[in-house]
Amino acid sequence: MRALPAEGQDWPALKQALLDAKSRDYSWKRGRMAVFFYYLDEALERIQQEAYMTFWTENNLGQRAFPSLARLEREVIGMGLSLMRAPEGAGGTFTSGGSESIFLAMLAARERAGKANPNIVIPDTAHLTFDRACWYLGIEVRRVRTDRDRQSDVMAMAAAVDYDTIALVGSAPNYPFGSIDRIEALGALAQQHDLWLHVDACVGGFLSPFLSRLGVNLPGWDFSVPGVTSISADIHKHGMAPKGASLLLVRDDALRQHHRFESSAWARGTYAAYTAQGTRPGGAVAAAWAVMMHLGEAGYLDCARRILDARRAIAAGVATIPGLEVLPGNHAILVFRSTDPALPIGAVATALDARGWLVSRQAEPDGIHLHLNPLHAEVAEEYLADLQAAVAEARGGATPAMAAGRAY
Ligand SMILES: Cc1ncc(COP(=O)(O)O)c(C=O)c1O
Repeated sequence: MRALPAEGQDWPALKQALLDAKSRDYSWKRGRMAVFFYYLDEALERIQQEAYMTFWTENNLGQRAFPSLARLEREVIGMGLSLMRAPEGAGGTFTSGGSESIFLAMLAARERAGKANPNIVIPDTAHLTFDRACWYLGIEVRRVRTDRDRQSDVMAMAAAVDYDTIALVGSAPNYPFGSIDRIEALGALAQQHDLWLHVDACVGGFLSPFLSRLGVNLPGWDFSVPGVTSISADIHKHGMAPKGASLLLVRDDALRQHHRFESSAWARGTYAAYTAQGTRPGGAVAAAWAVMMHLGEAGYLDCARRILDARRAIAAGVATIPGLEVLPGNHAILVFRSTDPALPIGAVATALDARGWLVSRQAEPDGIHLHLNPLHAEVAEEYLADLQAAVAEARGGATPAMAAGRAY
């Protein structure tokens, strides 16, 4: 274990040590991974960095001290609400990421319902961060099998609802398959039982509106769907902001009271917060604001177009390789698997990994999972060439199989 050095060290040597450490990671900037990163180009990267550095140490907990951050945050929330077609009177909270947005949504649903043994009913494709949030919050999670299209089976979800159910969840889209749940039917079910309906658009919130404008046929998922209570949408995913930026949006601003903490039970007076975080990085708000203002609708449309180009190129290329099958889909998530027992997909994954691609393995079906972003349009050909080579190697039989189910 390293101990704190007795004497401080000079920055140039430390900087070099950081760069050396980083040089052994997978190269996200060369598109070598389809998980964990979102990248457009160096121009946007500079804007992200400079905007972040403008407020690099300001604490967004202290909005009385930094009214600038309060205003920037309001504007970011406003842009999110208008993109998600929220009605007059809607509100939102800027959070550190999808997990915090979802945690706050589940907390608010629990506090609103006030049930003794609360449960939520969610499709089996919903992100595991719901289970984590509910573990923290003492809420039972009822995962309901999705149908063949990997969309919510609303009849089965209705059957799982009982007196103690506080919320329903739909994903737009889910992370394993990129499919959007039947939000309209879930909205009707939520209204029928007076349930909170949370739409997890952490992946899709800043992409789906632009895919739709490009003619991709997506089912309704935003606040225009009656019964949708809240939406989580990550600006640090397809919103293209640096990490630490997500929105929890609610149809009615008054619902935010349900995830507001306030207490005066100590010597320092009243402490109140809408977020799980206390100290909050001002840089994350400033950078999200700058990226959204810089890209505008035209910029996001361009990102969506490039993602579609990447999807089409990679899906078409994979489909030409005997033994591989691309699962149906039309979003940024693309999954393929082997249909040939002589071609173990785990061995393909190992061979691809050896060529410098970080491979994300899907557990069910046993496959390879890609979460595409604009950069992948530029590296699609390289990826396909390496995939072909990896398939040939895997067919050779000497390559060990990478274990399935390592999504992260
Ligand atoms: C659909 C979905 N929801 C929620 C999350 C959690 O978001 P975060 O990792 O920002 O906490 C993710 C992350 O990939 C996701 O894909």
